[in-house]
Amino acid sequence: MTLSGTLPASGADALDLAALPRDFLWGTATSAYQIEGAVAEDGRAPSIWDTFSRTPGAIDGGHTGDTACDHYHRWPEDIALMRELGTNAYRLSVAWPRVVPGGDGPANAKGLDFYDRLVDGLLAAGIQPSVTLYHWDLPQALQDRGGWPERDTAEHFASYAGLVAARLGDRVTQWATLNEPLCSAWIGHLEGRMAPGLTDLTAAVRASYHLLLGHGLAARAVRAAAPAARIGIVNNLSPITPATASAADLAAARRMDGHVNRWWLDPVHGRGFPDDMREVYRVDLPERAGDAGTIAAPLDWIGLNYYFPQVVAADPEGPAPHARQIARPGVPRTGMDWEVDADGLETLIMRLHREYGPRPIHITENGSAYPDALAPDGTVHDPERTAFLTSHLAACARAARRGAPVAGYYAWSLLDNFEWAYGYDKRFGLVHVDYATQRRTVKSSGRHYAGIIAAHRAG
Ligand code: IFM
Repeated sequence: MTLSGTLPASGADALDLAALPRDFLWGTATSAYQIEGAVAEDGRAPSIWDTFSRTPGAIDGGHTGDTACDHYHRWPEDIALMRELGTNAYRLSVAWPRVVPGGDGPANAKGLDFYDRLVDGLLAAGIQPSVTLYHWDLPQALQDRGGWPERDTAEHFASYAGLVAARLGDRVTQWATLNEPLCSAWIGHLEGRMAPGLTDLTAAVRASYHLLLGHGLAARAVRAAAPAARIGIVNNLSPITPATASAADLAAARRMDGHVNRWWLDPVHGRGFPDDMREVYRVDLPERAGDAGTIAAPLDWIGLNYYFPQVVAADPEGPAPHARQIARPGVPRTGMDWEVDADGLETLIMRLHREYGPRPIHITENGSAYPDALAPDGTVHDPERTAFLTSHLAACARAARRGAPVAGYYAWSLLDNFEWAYGYDKRFGLVHVDYATQRRTVKSSGRHYAGIIAAHRAG
């Protein structure tokens, strides 16, 4: 069926729901540090984000995740909201510092108990949990021993992953090892805008290597603990186009594609780290015999987080990859100043399918921030987010029509939450959170999503 009555003006956005499979997963996504709060409760130890958010000037407004959405206490209410939206899937992350506070060593029973209750609550509500093992909250104790630039961190990650899988693997089948390792490595260790806040190319490249090694080791550990597990990795990718047809911009676009896309996709697909990018970084990888095979552990699905495309120009004096993003005039932008381009999602899905498939593709995150306001009548009207959601779902459906195995879509995010260095002022939720009262209000985009889900079910 085509649900066009509620669509933005452009007819090109008509949402062809019949193209999506009957068992499509309609989800929302969150991550632990962004919503849980309770950072010092029940044995949780600090992560690098607790430290970073206390670094003067690091986070807008000096915000921290100390309370966030108080999901640690309000999760039953949040599951009720998922039911209200009609979703049948939910992507959450487990906080490593809650489960293994020291990074390695003994597990914290109370931390594991929390996720156990959450999983049971989701299943009782008919919602399939999709568990991500690492969404950037490295235990500070491991950072103090060198963090991701050190090989031990990858090994500790695998032990923690196996432990979580042993506890939840009888009920959770959908597992992701890492969320957006690009952000951990490049933004956290090269650009310094995320924890741990370093600006060191050598540390960044070593971190990227150990993140992917950790992915492979964790995949093996999860499979050993939970043989029914379906394992994937979640990458944030962007379609890259050159700003001009000049040789310099074409080469810059190729480098940016390597930096953003191929560096993360090629090794896990058994192609190794791209040679052209090794030349760009000129940092020795800490490779050991057997690592390439470990990193290329079999994958059951691939996760795609999509937010914006990138048009790039050469930037010879800038940091690796010596390319910079150009702002295109006249292109609509979200509150993050990110370009809105739903076609980019279709392009990426088709690329994953053709170049890295065949394998189910889950859109593990997609969404937009806008400065939403609670109206005096208690509603939140967010037409721009509604249009964003609809046009991007339409892009998924077009890709599915073209033969790509699009298996699920997880809107980012269920709730407004702690948007990392931007604090709480950037709101991505389908559900508004009043942080003073913790009151939740489903936005009009959330109601629209519920309508789409219901229409797909009825179709
Ligand atoms: O909030 C983040 C999320 O943690 C990872 N992907 C992008 C989102 C929006 O910036």
